[in-house]
Amino acid sequence: MEYMHTEIKAFCNKILMHVGVSEANAKLVTDNLVTADLRGVSSHGVARLPVYIKRIQLGLINPNPNPKVIKSTSTTVLIDGDNGLGQINVTDGVNRAISIAQENGQSMVGIKNTNHIGICADYVLKVAKEGMIGFCVGNASAHMAPWGGIRPILGTNPISVGVPAGRFPAIVLDMATSTVARGKILLAAKKGDKIPLGWALDKDGNPTEDAEKARFGTVLPFGGPKGYGLSLLVDILAGVLTGANFGSKVPSMTEDFETPLNLGAFISVFRIDNFMSLKQFEERIEELINEIKGSPAAPNVDEIYLPGEIEHNRMQEGLKKGIGLDEKVINDLNLLAESLNIAERI
Ligand SMILES: NC(=O)c1ccc[n+]([C@@H]2O[C@H](COP(=O)([O-])OP(=O)(O)OC[C@H]3O[C@@H](n4cnc5c(N)ncnc54)[C@H](O)[C@@H]3O)[C@@H](O)[C@H]2O)c1
Repeated sequence: MEYMHTEIKAFCNKILMHVGVSEANAKLVTDNLVTADLRGVSSHGVARLPVYIKRIQLGLINPNPNPKVIKSTSTTVLIDGDNGLGQINVTDGVNRAISIAQENGQSMVGIKNTNHIGICADYVLKVAKEGMIGFCVGNASAHMAPWGGIRPILGTNPISVGVPAGRFPAIVLDMATSTVARGKILLAAKKGDKIPLGWALDKDGNPTEDAEKARFGTVLPFGGPKGYGLSLLVDILAGVLTGANFGSKVPSMTEDFETPLNLGAFISVFRIDNFMSLKQFEERIEELINEIKGSPAAPNVDEIYLPGEIEHNRMQEGLKKGIGLDEKVINDLNLLAESLNIAERI
């Protein structure tokens, strides 16, 4: 079924506000979730709302956090997110990082004591829209074994970078450090679909196509030891350095309903005119994009894309035509509304 983004946002806002999230904060969360669905990253879309609500109801997430600055310099800030929803804390962190970089040329913001931060593209796009380069990483529940191991110690820790690109859409590299985001495995398990070999191992360390077995095993890093190394670096920046949980101390968001997550995030922003004028940079980026897009495509490839371009195109179409949401996801949202005595259904 196709739904207009405004319709889903209104429905999800109502649910969040029902469990005590303020209207302004609810809007930040639903904007991030629906942006994921609009960009075709449904693993991080409104499918995540039921688990957020469950954790709020269990007192594991603070619905209206009061983030506090723990330490700051002219270019860095460390924030305690007060166990808020990740989207609220990271939006606050990105806004701070943008203002500091506008004033002082560059910034680094660390956040501890936060929760699942959703789709990272949303944050670095905000930076690119300001004509700066932004980097955002976050650690996540320990579902990925170190390369060669079978015990999950690291998260699928996402890395995102946003770069303004003149007359082209911003370049947005936004990726899990696992072969795929674990949300895609959860979604396949929910739908009873198989997963491709190479996404995960079962609990005994055997490659598996069974999404249910993969849930209880370990996801695999992309590019073997390289993805593992990048995931580790994210855990160091977002977890070790900020004072958040790290390694296997990070509980499972979807399976542990007794412990707050205390996740961490790390954002860095810098001004392009520290190096050259934005205009000159954009001319040079456009030249590079034109060269890439104009280069010969491999057999069976229609078009060469830049990172974030496919998602940008989907979003433009989704904003006009609506978003196709899985029946199971809609059903879960309606059941959630019913359990909260909310009369509306989507
Ligand atoms: N909050 C969290 O804890 C968490 C954890 C993991 C992942 N995530 C999110 O999950 C999402 C999905 O991650 P993923 O790794 O599955 O994404 P993906 O594999 O779909 O895409 C990764 C990157 O590759 C680019 N890409 C894909 N196909 C391309 C092509 N043909 N040409 C050029 N570029 C191409 C995409 O634009 C993107 O930048 C991300 O938005 C990430 O932020 C969040």
